[in-house]
Amino acid sequence: MTSRPILLSGIKPTGDPHIGNYFGALKQFVDMQNRGNHECYFMIADYHALNSVQDGDQMRALTLELARTFLAIGIDPKKSVMFKQSDVSAHTELAWIFDTITTMPYLMRAHAYKDSEAKNKEIVVGTFNYPMLMAADILLYDTATVPVGQDQKQHIEYARDAAEKFNRTYEEVFRLPTEMIVPEVAIVPGVDGEKMSKSYGNTIPLFATREEITQKVMGIVTDSDGDVPTNVYAIHRLVKTAEQLAPLYEEHRGRYKALKDALVDDLDAFIAPMRAKYEALGKSPEKVAKILSEGGKKANKKAEQKMKQVRKAVGVR
Ligand code: ADP
Ligand code: TRP
Repeated sequence: MTSRPILLSGIKPTGDPHIGNYFGALKQFVDMQNRGNHECYFMIADYHALNSVQDGDQMRALTLELARTFLAIGIDPKKSVMFKQSDVSAHTELAWIFDTITTMPYLMRAHAYKDSEAKNKEIVVGTFNYPMLMAADILLYDTATVPVGQDQKQHIEYARDAAEKFNRTYEEVFRLPTEMIVPEVAIVPGVDGEKMSKSYGNTIPLFATREEITQKVMGIVTDSDGDVPTNVYAIHRLVKTAEQLAPLYEEHRGRYKALKDALVDDLDAFIAPMRAKYEALGKSPEKVAKILSEGGKKANKKAEQKMKQVRKAVGVR
């Protein structure tokens, strides 16, 4: 079989995946896997999550929960490699090597760092260094394509820069990756119209029950643009096309309650099959853990090949 270009992406196991994560990132993972043009790697970024999750039991639980999420939305371990970052020690090893060719002022320009600084937070070195670990995640696998939400664009630029810097300093080892951002869902809005994010408390959980969906939808802030409640419509558009929605919004012009009821039905219909799979997987955590550890072995093998080139280039081992 001819080798296909590599596609890789990662998500931190920080809990409560929401429909913004799904439409902005996770859905692309499944679509790309099923299209079959790429060899796909999907990673649980547990080392990245250590910056905020600092409880061993919680980390283990969140990691399994995210693996379960991957499987419930349709990631198929027969087609893709699904693994956790900490199973491949090359990630942290390469991140260190990138640290040695990266300057402080350059990392200080990263959005995530600047945001934390603006909030006057005590910034851990892991947050400051975040882009270098992420560059290692991507570059270890000769990744061509990285599907992510808009907020991750700068991190992919940092990965490209790390690759170029290394290739210039040593020798041509790394391939330059490109981000894949689907424009229509680059920023999925939350129930308040701001970017949906767990840190803003404006999410609709990906595996919400019908009751939860109802409660969230009834809470959508209904600022209107003419007769259309903008925030209701924006979320509705995630699960229905403009053509499908036109007659409904025409019929219920100005009647927000009816439109919200329709949104509850449509979201529930969309979420129900994934929710059922997620619940079923909850009964076999050993199966989920096994899939992860097998993926880890495959990822390790590939990463080690690249590390041989890296160690030789920099002159260690
Ligand atoms: P959160 O902001 O809720 O903490 P994360 O930062 O963990 O979400 O994001 C995980 C993935 O989901 C990333 O690829 C990110 O780009 C994507 N994502 C998160 N929120 C959104 C959103 N509102 N719209 C589109 N994509 C999103
Ligand atoms: N930084 C990404 C996020 O916050 C998660 C991530 C870690 C990632 N490593 C990655 C995404 C590698 C793509 C590729 O969502």
